Amino acid sequence: MHTLRIDAGRLQGNLEELSRIGRLEGGGVCRLAFTEEDKRARDWVEAKMRALGLAVRIDRIGNILGLRKARREAPPVLCGSHTDTVATGGCFDGSVGVLAGLEVMETLNEAGIETEVPVGVLSFVNEEGARFQPDMMGSLVVRGSLDVDHARQIAGVDGITVGQEIDRLSFAGAADFKRMPIRGYLELHIEQGPLLEKNDIQIGIVEAVQGIRWIEYMLEGAAAHAGATPIELRQDAGFVAGCIVQLARRLSIEIEGQRATVGTLRLSPDLVNVVAEKARLTVDLRNPDPGRLDEAEARLNQGIEEIAASERVRVRRATKVNVAPAAFDPVLVNAVDQAARGLGYTSIRMTSGAGHDAQILAAACPAAMIFVPSRGGISHNTREYSSPEQIAAGANVLLRSLLAIAG
Ligand code: GLV
Ligand code: MN
Ligand code: MN
Repeated sequence: MHTLRIDAGRLQGNLEELSRIGRLEGGGVCRLAFTEEDKRARDWVEAKMRALGLAVRIDRIGNILGLRKARREAPPVLCGSHTDTVATGGCFDGSVGVLAGLEVMETLNEAGIETEVPVGVLSFVNEEGARFQPDMMGSLVVRGSLDVDHARQIAGVDGITVGQEIDRLSFAGAADFKRMPIRGYLELHIEQGPLLEKNDIQIGIVEAVQGIRWIEYMLEGAAAHAGATPIELRQDAGFVAGCIVQLARRLSIEIEGQRATVGTLRLSPDLVNVVAEKARLTVDLRNPDPGRLDEAEARLNQGIEEIAASERVRVRRATKVNVAPAAFDPVLVNAVDQAARGLGYTSIRMTSGAGHDAQILAAACPAAMIFVPSRGGISHNTREYSSPEQIAAGANVLLRSLLAIAG
């Protein structure tokens, strides 16, 4: 069993095949959640699961679970991730975890290994949250923190609801994974940051994931002539929006561990010679420390109030995502550590900068993550890349740690 390895060529072939779905010219993929491309990728994953002899079930939000038979019926040990992407996504974010999970199942099949308790792959729906918020929607439903009927009512950035798309594209099954007992959940993912590459390390043993808040701000001032309106008479929503961008950067510098990003900004009427009447923007706040995250949000809101008041611009805000920092299960983290050591890979323990389904599940079952390096630390970018060897190393760690937990 100690010589058991995944087939790196087969895993790479599958990654290439999947990355043809939603492929963008010039590289990368666009498989925004609950779109046709997303559905085609999910159908592809489901077909693979069936071909591997897994018992496949799909829940009402569209999560796909493929379970392998075991010596006894018991809560399963699962691995997985997501295949949806941001609009300018790479081919590795999420897909690596799902396809490595399938590769592990195939490796076990070929070796004729029957585990003590079932193992399986869980492919979550809408992890990215780029179109429909909150992100990590599928895992929130599994954890029991988001009701499917409520999620179906959520409108996306294009005004279409989750429920409309689920029905139009037949995402849903009849299963219910809510609070399903899970013995352990392991997620292999690309790092999406520069740490592993910079230190020439093969495996990241993820101990924690930082907290995430997404806040949307709606600013309302008054449209005015760009040439004729004196500065002191303006109620310029665009000016306030620009100040928020600067404020976010300042918080990132001044608060320890803080990251603050304005990722969307739309002005209206969005015309060259009109002072913007309205602005709609989002701020993504992240910090491993919940107290500092609170501090960042409080300072952000206070700063915005002050700038807006001086410009006589009205501010409304809505919290779209509020995910607490998560600490992973020490037993599972150790299993990953042992697996990496046993395979002779270099490794370090680290905290994830990105959000993950494992972070959501961590509140419901033991969970842990395995990272592999990202070239240049780049992700959420079509140029995202991890080599076949790097991914294979991560998949072998996944295989070994999964077996350690599943017996
Ligand atoms: C998901 O990729 C996130 O961290 O936003
Ligand atoms: Mn991801
Ligand atoms: Mn992502």
